[in-house]
Amino acid sequence: MTAPLPDAQLQHRYETAKTLATEAARLAELAYRQRDTLVVEHKGDELQDLVSIVDKQTEAFIKQTLAEAFPEDGFLGEETGAADLDARCIWVVDPIDGTSCFVNGLHSWCVSIGLLVDGKAAIGVIADAVHGELFHARSGHGAWLNDQPMRVRDVPDVRHGVMGMGTNHRDGKEHFIPVLSQLLEQGGTFIRNGSGALMTAYVAAGRLIGYYETHINSWDCLAGLVMVAEAGGRDNDFLRGNGLLSGNPLLVAGPQVYAQVAAMVGPTLDA
Ligand code: IPD
Ligand code: CA
Ligand code: CA
Repeated sequence: MTAPLPDAQLQHRYETAKTLATEAARLAELAYRQRDTLVVEHKGDELQDLVSIVDKQTEAFIKQTLAEAFPEDGFLGEETGAADLDARCIWVVDPIDGTSCFVNGLHSWCVSIGLLVDGKAAIGVIADAVHGELFHARSGHGAWLNDQPMRVRDVPDVRHGVMGMGTNHRDGKEHFIPVLSQLLEQGGTFIRNGSGALMTAYVAAGRLIGYYETHINSWDCLAGLVMVAEAGGRDNDFLRGNGLLSGNPLLVAGPQVYAQVAAMVGPTLDA
């Protein structure tokens, strides 16, 4: 059996990720404040799947910085794909989560940096420059919003708070309306703010009582998954199967709401 990575090596990666996400988000915010000049493209035939030069520049900056600091680590980024996935440490990066918000002047976007260690989500950092919020967690060391500890809100059922709900034009969107309908029938309510990463972090922070998305990619949620687990929440084993590269459905919530919403979603949650 391989020995666990030394604590100092993990802590170094955690501190680096916090500094790097903060700086990347600060640079992206400068461009956000001048977004009228941005050239926005869509990916393939999907008009709603947007990418700007800021997404590409931000990922290049993060990737380069990590490669210099940790040349032995692997990398998976939304814009540049995968490299060295057989490494023990793999960085999982969404340079801008919430690109459609970013290009339309809606304030819910962020930089998300996660770290897998020996196949497990171990570090998560999400930087929201517009609101001055840095969400961060390291497995076994708690979850934090800036310097305040985060805790999920474990309410008895969906009538007691706001769920985050997400979908997109990829797989599984046919599950969205049936789950939404049950949520409303059972007295719940919801938001979709355009950033799956932020909504996952908001569950850890106790702002949302849960977050469900019909299909999400690992770079959208890996950082948030560490936070939710450290803040006392549950998740649906997002990384099972080929989750790292192909994504899966996602449900994160306090334990009681998790059980209720998992029943609404049914077997497709863990299929
Ligand atoms: C998207 C956002 C959105 C979620 C999608 C993601 P992007 O990421 O997180 O909220 O519903 O599944 O793809 O394109 O803004 O990086
Ligand atoms: Ca994303
Ligand atoms: Ca993105």
